[in-house]
Amino acid sequence: MKISLFLSVLTVSILGIYSEVNIPAPCKRIECPIYDVIENGKDYQIRRYNSSVWISNPPIRQFSIVTANAIGVTRLFRYIQGNNDNKQKIEMAGPVLSEVIPSDGSFFKYSYIVSFYVPKKNQANPPPAKGLQVQRWKNVYAAVRQFSGFVNDKNVAEQAAALKDSINGTKWLSAIEKSHKASNFSVAQYNSPIELFNRVNEIWLLFEL
Ligand SMILES: *[C@@H]1O[C@H](CO)[C@@H](O)[C@H](O)[C@H]1NC(C)=O
Ligand SMILES: *[C@@H]1O[C@H](CO)[C@@H](O)[C@H](O)[C@H]1NC(C)=O
Ligand SMILES: *[C@@H]1O[C@H](CO)[C@@H](O)[C@H](O)[C@H]1NC(C)=O
Repeated sequence: MKISLFLSVLTVSILGIYSEVNIPAPCKRIECPIYDVIENGKDYQIRRYNSSVWISNPPIRQFSIVTANAIGVTRLFRYIQGNNDNKQKIEMAGPVLSEVIPSDGSFFKYSYIVSFYVPKKNQANPPPAKGLQVQRWKNVYAAVRQFSGFVNDKNVAEQAAALKDSINGTKWLSAIEKSHKASNFSVAQYNSPIELFNRVNEIWLLFEL
């Protein structure tokens, strides 16, 4: 007993050296997709999300992730408040996920797919709504980096570059590079805009194995 307790404390403290990526604190209040931690690397974490369901906007072409998020979140917020074909209310869950997609050389550099995670209770039958799509994900892996504050174009680019650097040279790089997901990266936000402190955001590089 004592030895196993000692060993688990030891393990926690060894992992603690690099475990900068924690379960996002807002997920103690709201439902978030659960995941398995596959590896705690240096400045990154590899997670596996088992099948999950998301409600998504079509790609929003904008100059800034901030504007795209505002547009996308407004629509999704109306959706969960009952503005859908079934007039059904859905509990707010987390995170808001914004997929950053390089655009096809048009006027805008990126388009953004802004999604809400659908709570377990509603995953079998999310109400349809004009202009929004249900995305059903199979098992997917994510390389994750956390950062705080409000998301903007500068910090997401910096944090994504830092995450890409920290997985460079690991066994995950090739899987991430050849993944079917064409996006540069995704940004997960867990707090509402009125929460000013202790905000948690994550860059996700999604990939399949
Ligand atoms: C994901 O699926 C695997 C295999 O079925 C299972 O062992 C694991 O507990 C699941 N993880 C979560 C977070 O539900
Ligand atoms: C990984 O690092 C090497 C050496 O610094 C660099 O040449 C290469 O472009 C990097 N690869 C990626 C995918 O960032
Ligand atoms: C996004 O990807 C494109 C090409 O796929 C690349 O030119 C661009 O630098 C990437 N942007 C970021 C922020 O990673």
